[in-house]
Amino acid sequence: MKTISITPGENNVGAYINGVNLNEIDKDLINQVKDTLNKYGVIFIKKQNLNSSAYQTFAKSIGKLVEYPRLKGLRDFPYINVLERRPTDKSLAFGGSWLHQDTSYLERDRPRYTMLLGIEIPKGQGNTIFSSGFNAYRNLPKEIKEKIKNAKGVFSSAGPISKTRIELEKRTGIQSAKVMKAEHPIVQEVNGQKSLYVSPGHLIEIKNVNNDDSNKIKNYLIDHVSKDEFIFSYEWSKGDLVLWDNLSVMHKASEIRNCKRIMHRITIK
Ligand SMILES: [Fe+2]
Repeated sequence: MKTISITPGENNVGAYINGVNLNEIDKDLINQVKDTLNKYGVIFIKKQNLNSSAYQTFAKSIGKLVEYPRLKGLRDFPYINVLERRPTDKSLAFGGSWLHQDTSYLERDRPRYTMLLGIEIPKGQGNTIFSSGFNAYRNLPKEIKEKIKNAKGVFSSAGPISKTRIELEKRTGIQSAKVMKAEHPIVQEVNGQKSLYVSPGHLIEIKNVNNDDSNKIKNYLIDHVSKDEFIFSYEWSKGDLVLWDNLSVMHKASEIRNCKRIMHRITIK
């Protein structure tokens, strides 16, 4: 068995998996990839030369593919959504400005993983910003851990980040029907490791806190996960594949101006 080589990302957010070719996957490699993803929350696999078929095959080895109705799919690969930014686009980047966990506003059965493949990458901008829910939880003061141990967050698709979705909908003409809302524990566990699940772009309320000052705790936690010490700003190259677990990392897009970028996205359960 060949053991994969791993380098943790900046601030111990996520991990690079080095020296693998995802055109040649086997069970043993996939198990190691999954273990790394569970342990680090997000994995970065640089400069892969994958066509859509190989990209989809890799995605299927991770879990069940999910349709994401807000974005257009490729004709022959409907599960591969195209995220395109054009030089003339002036609006906020989709998913920008607020750290979040994808689809935290869905109740049951919400998709767990998001994967992006860099198809056309501009130089020097368009980083994806990640914040580790594992590291953020671990570094909370004891009394806050105690306060939030049974807390539930209320997550809404009409939270602060919806601004970027509304702009995307204007552009694509695909509109979502209604506001979606769900409650989830804000402390999640992945393979025995606790993670702070607060999706700042969607969180509108915290319930079940011992203290009645739920708003204060909400703001405290949002500030906490946004601290530089938990952040890794990932700079893309063409062909990079990034896969994250929405239970254990938050992410946001950064702004792109006057250039073109294309990403292929797959959502996985
Ligand atoms: Fe997102």
